[in-house]
Amino acid sequence: MKVTLTAIKADVGSIGGHICPSKKLLAAVENTVKEDGRDLVIDHLVSYTGDDVAILLTHDRGIDDEQVHKLAWDAFLAGTAVAKSQGLYGAGQDLLRDAFSGNTRGLGPAVAEMEFEERPNEPFLMFAADKTEPGAYNLPLFLAFADPMYNSGLILSPTGGKGYRFTVMDVDYIEGDRVVELVTPEDMYDLATLLRDNGRYVIESIHSRHDGDIAVSSCTTRLRNIAGKYVGKDDPIMLVRTQKSFPATGEILAPFEITHYVAGFMRGSHTGPLTPVKAKSAVSFFDGPPIVSGLAFSIREGRLTEAIDVFDHPYWDWVRAKAAQKAHYIREQGFSGAAMLGIHDLEYVGINHRLDALESRFVVRNPEE
Ligand code: F6R
Ligand code: MG
Ligand code: MG
Repeated sequence: MKVTLTAIKADVGSIGGHICPSKKLLAAVENTVKEDGRDLVIDHLVSYTGDDVAILLTHDRGIDDEQVHKLAWDAFLAGTAVAKSQGLYGAGQDLLRDAFSGNTRGLGPAVAEMEFEERPNEPFLMFAADKTEPGAYNLPLFLAFADPMYNSGLILSPTGGKGYRFTVMDVDYIEGDRVVELVTPEDMYDLATLLRDNGRYVIESIHSRHDGDIAVSSCTTRLRNIAGKYVGKDDPIMLVRTQKSFPATGEILAPFEITHYVAGFMRGSHTGPLTPVKAKSAVSFFDGPPIVSGLAFSIREGRLTEAIDVFDHPYWDWVRAKAAQKAHYIREQGFSGAAMLGIHDLEYVGINHRLDALESRFVVRNPEE
């Protein structure tokens, strides 16, 4: 059968700052999905990563389905009502423009969706990240789908060896979806040229060149059906199908051991290591570090198995210790240089006010004629 996976995440309020949602909030989201989605979706799962609640829905209505998106939106609204009643911080922050928070970004839920003909056995992963941006997945995806140092299937599997087609979006362009398609291995250097700029070029999807099937959908997608207009995106969610003509699950996970430095962390304005965490982890040190969780599923006729937490394994404890060290090293230099993002990527406008105020105090000594 043709099945659609829809993963939507939003920050609608958290305990103790931008840390994690409350149990009551999660229950409100879950109940809404269960009750309102009874005749709409086949299966669902509600989880969270940092301050973001993730809803995974399976159904047969295709991508961009208005009713499915509205179900998620209504569930987040129910969560927002609880967040308000409990005094949670940033209640409704990704839904409401007047939410009480100093953040200027994060205006809108993030969504990743894909429709495909279900294979007789269908494994897939859902990644959810917090305190970072969609481009955080660029490097792990490039390495998992295009580099034989991480994906042995590129040389060992006849189907994986045919390579992959990447669709990359220029997220700076706001008058439409500006995208480019590049194939690996032929276009590898061009792909790297784009993907080095995580803030501007983001992998939207990846397809197999063996059978044309979709492997990856990441959350550059615009949410026309929810808000009627583009409502932004940050802390990213992603769906990845694995095995057979796609990379193996372990090959997808392998590059996450790098814990590469990404944008985000405190006030969405710093650089920190992308740390693989167990599902339902809060953030902590310096409102971070940037975190990513991963859940593995199998699916049959749209029904999900239980979720397996792919970063809940002793190997990743070692990786987390390494990431903590990397976080410490960059935090040692506070606001200086690479530790804080460039002026155009800051989530707060305080620095601009300071710079404006300083203008009148500058003097030009020895002006040239
Ligand atoms: C980053 C984030 C937090 C907040 C910080 C200050 O994405 O959500 O680091 O930026 O806790 O929050 P406000 O400005 O709401 O007090
Ligand atoms: Mg938040
Ligand atoms: Mg968040």
